[in-house]
Amino acid sequence: MPFVTTKDMFEKSMKEKFAIGAFNINNMEFVQAIMDAAAKEHSPVILQTSASAIKYARIPYLKKMIEAGLEEHDIPVVLHLDHGPDFETCKLCVDSGYTSVMFDGSKYDFETNVKLTKEVVDYAHAHGVVVEAELGKLAGIEDDVHVAEDDAMFTDPDQAKEFVERTGCDSLAIAIGTSHGAYKFKGEAKLRFDILAKVKEKIPNTPIVLHGASTVVPELVAICNKYGGSLPGAKGVPDEMLHQASISGVSKVNVDTDLRLAMTAGIRETMSEDPTIFDPRKYLGKGRELIEETVAHKMRDVFGSSNKA
Ligand code: G3H
Ligand code: 13P
Ligand code: ZN
Repeated sequence: MPFVTTKDMFEKSMKEKFAIGAFNINNMEFVQAIMDAAAKEHSPVILQTSASAIKYARIPYLKKMIEAGLEEHDIPVVLHLDHGPDFETCKLCVDSGYTSVMFDGSKYDFETNVKLTKEVVDYAHAHGVVVEAELGKLAGIEDDVHVAEDDAMFTDPDQAKEFVERTGCDSLAIAIGTSHGAYKFKGEAKLRFDILAKVKEKIPNTPIVLHGASTVVPELVAICNKYGGSLPGAKGVPDEMLHQASISGVSKVNVDTDLRLAMTAGIRETMSEDPTIFDPRKYLGKGRELIEETVAHKMRDVFGSSNKA
């Protein structure tokens, strides 16, 4: 089966109230773990590459590894550009066979974001590729202001409607309190489900995307810390909140940090348990195993995408 676009997947997700996991990939072990999990769960899946993943692994390798997975598994798979920083990167991915690209104009003012997003939409649509855009700001690790404390950073539902109408984007990433990385909340985890509900009211037919949605799985953090890591105070979005989001109109849930933690936990544990090991297949294999378990759990118990392929 060739790569599909998100169109049919998202239509089904909105109708049947579940979300599809979008997992970041950087090397073969990630691709295999995610695709094996999706196949076992009979789940649709989105594999996404950031601009830095492209720089690290290079498009032909990333693409062909997924194509290899599709020789083994008959599941709907989207190849998506995550956080496309500019038109050129989006164009490169469209021209290279990606079926979906994100243009992230969230750092620009509203009018500039509209203009730049529309340029990407026009090009992508002319080539049969769908576009995810972003409105509102997720707090970055480097930001001093915590997003939950600054209302101005959340997505404005009225602006969301105008943005989608003017850009013609196919899906919209919104800011409701999540952030990228392993340190999402200083205190208790809190998401603005009220904003999500208002956005859905304004744009009921537009699939909504949640970035920065890793759980920062406590068990994986504990393994990392037990075997020499140092991730004090790491905290993510609890599974129950992600499940709530998945049945409340979020169609795509982005996960990178949890997979990085799984791989690191596997490597740290294997190497520490037996310091004589120097065969990369041993520690990468354990990392791959933990990624697969993590992805399968999300599909089955959190997003509800199992058996929706
Ligand atoms: O949202 C960003 C993703 O976690 C990708 O991160 O640019 O380090 O690959 P990266
Ligand atoms: P996490 O850092 O929470 O995994 O978010 C990943 C993401 O949003 C990729 O675009
Ligand atoms: Zn993101």
